[in-house]
Parts: sequence; structure tokens; C-alpha cells
Amino acid sequence: MADRLVRFGVAVPDSLLSEFDLFIQGNGLQNRSEAIRQLIRERLAREMWAHGEGTVFGTVTIMYDHHTKDATNALTSLQHDFGDVIICTTHVHVDHDHCLECIVMKGDAGTIKGFENALSSVRGIKTIDLSVSAIL
Ligand code: NI
Repeated sequence: MADRLVRFGVAVPDSLLSEFDLFIQGNGLQNRSEAIRQLIRERLAREMWAHGEGTVFGTVTIMYDHHTKDATNALTSLQHDFGDVIICTTHVHVDHDHCLECIVMKGDAGTIKGFENALSSVRGIKTIDLSVSAIL
């Protein structure tokens, strides 16, 4: 069932509202209400993430050199260790040396944070990019 929409007044300086309207236009958002709802959700999801609380969805994209000794084994073992929160993994063979993996997770923020930290210790990983979302 859809949440009831509540109207509330917000006072902001003229110049800030102009900047916000430019942001809305530039990002293809429909209107101020939609833009504000989206910003609130993103901020609250970040807050849940920061405190390691609540169920969040996370997507982590990693780029690694699969020639690095044990990188592939370490990544597979780690994903089995965190099997309870990992929904799926997509693997892309980028070029002769590099692999990209996109790992989708659902679980408590603390566990997902733990997975990200554990990834940081795997040799051969060049970049780790995590984004977090929540149902809000
Ligand atoms: Ni590959």
C-alpha cells in the first residue's frame, strides 16, 4: 500500500532555490518534490550505512588483475564467506589482464561494511566502488 503523501513548507534562500532548480533540470528530475524525496532517501540510507544499522542493499564493483597470485581464489573464498548477504555476482573479462565484478548484496549494513573491508585486503584489486541503497 502506498504511503500517504504529506505536504510541508520549507523556507530556503532565493539563491539556494535557484541552484536547486538548476540541479533538478540538469539531472532530469521531474519536480522539486521528487527531487527532495530522492535526496532524503539517499541521505537516510547513508545514515543507516554510517551507523551500520538496518537492512540495506549494496552494490560493489571491483576491478582486479586476475594474474595476481591468489586474487581469484581469495575473491571466491571471500564471497563464499559472505554468502548470506550476497545475492549475485556478475563477472566481466575486461581485457587480457583485468576482470570486473559487480556484486549485489542485501543484508545488515554492518555485515556489508565487513565485506567491503575484507575486499580491501585482497591483493590485485585495483578499485573498489560501493554504493548503498535502502527501501525508504
Ligand atoms: Ni575475468
